Amino acid sequence: MPFHASSLRTVRVLALALAGSFAAAQAGAQSAATSELYQSFGEQAGLLALSTDLVDRVSSDPRIAGFFEKTNRAALAKQLADQFCQLLGGPCRYAGVDMKTVHQEMGISKADFHALVEDLQAAMAARHIPFSVQNQLLARLAPMHRDIIETP
Ligand code: HEM
Repeated sequence: MPFHASSLRTVRVLALALAGSFAAAQAGAQSAATSELYQSFGEQAGLLALSTDLVDRVSSDPRIAGFFEKTNRAALAKQLADQFCQLLGGPCRYAGVDMKTVHQEMGISKADFHALVEDLQAAMAARHIPFSVQNQLLARLAPMHRDIIETP
């Protein structure tokens, strides 16, 4: 009987240890995959170059340029670079205002949002970022549309 109880305990301890190391391995694999994604965007320097190009593109895109007339472009590019970096599993933290607060009362429509996404796709293509990698950033940005779009 005591033998049975202790072997049961051993089995439980082993199972817990295995589950623990499985979880740790999974978390490790996940963070390795995400930081690989961050690296494929050229890390911080690459992301700042990408977001600077994006801000230039949206500011000269006749569909949405009006929104950015009074914008400090360099400051916006820096905030976007930090935000993208964080979303891609890089070492930065976005310290700006939340998406709902920033964009409220701008009256951004679905079409405006899509115009910006197209400009982002063009900026990523210009940097030869592979299509599958582009889609990973777009997928992380897509849910934000709920906080940004105000008019149909
Ligand atoms: C996924 C889509 C978008 C993301 C991730 C995004 C992200 C951001 C970020 C990080 C900021 C800076 C916030 C801060 O300074 O604290 C910002 C500001 C701003 N965004 Fe967006 N944005 C998106 C879509 C749009 C769209 C579609 C428009 C208009 C067409 C827009 C117009 C602006 C403007 C005008 C500002 C303020 C810039 C200023 O300070 O003058 N954004 N956005």
